[in-house]
Amino acid sequence: MDTAMQVPATARYARCIEASKKVRWEIDRDVIRGRKFDFTKKFVPDRLAQMAGFGFASPAEKRFLSQIQGRTYANMFGLVERYIGAKLTELQHAHALGDQVVLESLVRFTDEELKHQELFRRLEVMMAPGMPAGYDFVPDPNEVAQAVLGKSTWAVLALTCHIELFTLDHYRQSIDKDPDVSELWKDVFLFHMKEESQHAVLDEMEWQRENAAITEAQREKAVGDLIDLVAAVDGILQAQAASDAGYFMANVSRDFSRDEAQALRAALLRAYRWQYIVSGVQNERFITVLGEMLSPAQMKRIVTALEPIMKDTAALASA
Ligand SMILES: [Fe+2]
Ligand SMILES: [Fe+2]
Repeated sequence: MDTAMQVPATARYARCIEASKKVRWEIDRDVIRGRKFDFTKKFVPDRLAQMAGFGFASPAEKRFLSQIQGRTYANMFGLVERYIGAKLTELQHAHALGDQVVLESLVRFTDEELKHQELFRRLEVMMAPGMPAGYDFVPDPNEVAQAVLGKSTWAVLALTCHIELFTLDHYRQSIDKDPDVSELWKDVFLFHMKEESQHAVLDEMEWQRENAAITEAQREKAVGDLIDLVAAVDGILQAQAASDAGYFMANVSRDFSRDEAQALRAALLRAYRWQYIVSGVQNERFITVLGEMLSPAQMKRIVTALEPIMKDTAALASA
């Protein structure tokens, strides 16, 4: 590799290491601090939960919906961080005898994602006793990770970059602005965001590195892989929205007609699509980086594939 190119790249990785050391936090000492969840509070802020879509719900039901979404948020992050950790372990091998600064940045990144998984597992254990029995997180993190890791590295890094970027957006746009959200939840998202900031930069650099290394034919295939991955995420969201709607209806003291049940499932699916797909797809940095890599025809393939999801959430996206 050209040395002139290598130096600034190494410096960017080194900056991520420095930032990672500066913000480093521990689960009990900094985040949980002996606290329990306050079940009189919401877990996910209204903007992120797309609460405007649940006009039929009473204030208590809205709070319950926010708590269900919070539980799913913790489980979803536990799930994506399983595959991200596994992929990073693979990337570390590729750099093992190369630039040791890059290697260190990826080792720290992996260590942080393992810690985040533990944090989200702890949250699940803390939330479960305060909520009615019967909540189910449908997908299996290891099965999902196996499927994701079968796709090309370019596509996996694209999906990962999109996830890390929307994590930052979720925090900036809403989590610190809703006074009715549990203080412990706010801290979870604050501390998570502090480390995800470095991950987003590292993902982008690794993604660009991979993009420069592959052939046009490989990129063409990778675009198809990315489309498949987004469709797989959407499949997970559909199953989880149906499960969470069933859990909600089983635990509120009123009956739902078939139409009302359908509307509830649709509103939850829209909220989840917003959280896990649309907010990332609309991220300016993601659009810029993706646009620099792809031809107009390849971009069009992605836009066309996303069309049904964007249509479903169009009213939310402009809210
Ligand atoms: Fe994380
Ligand atoms: Fe991350």
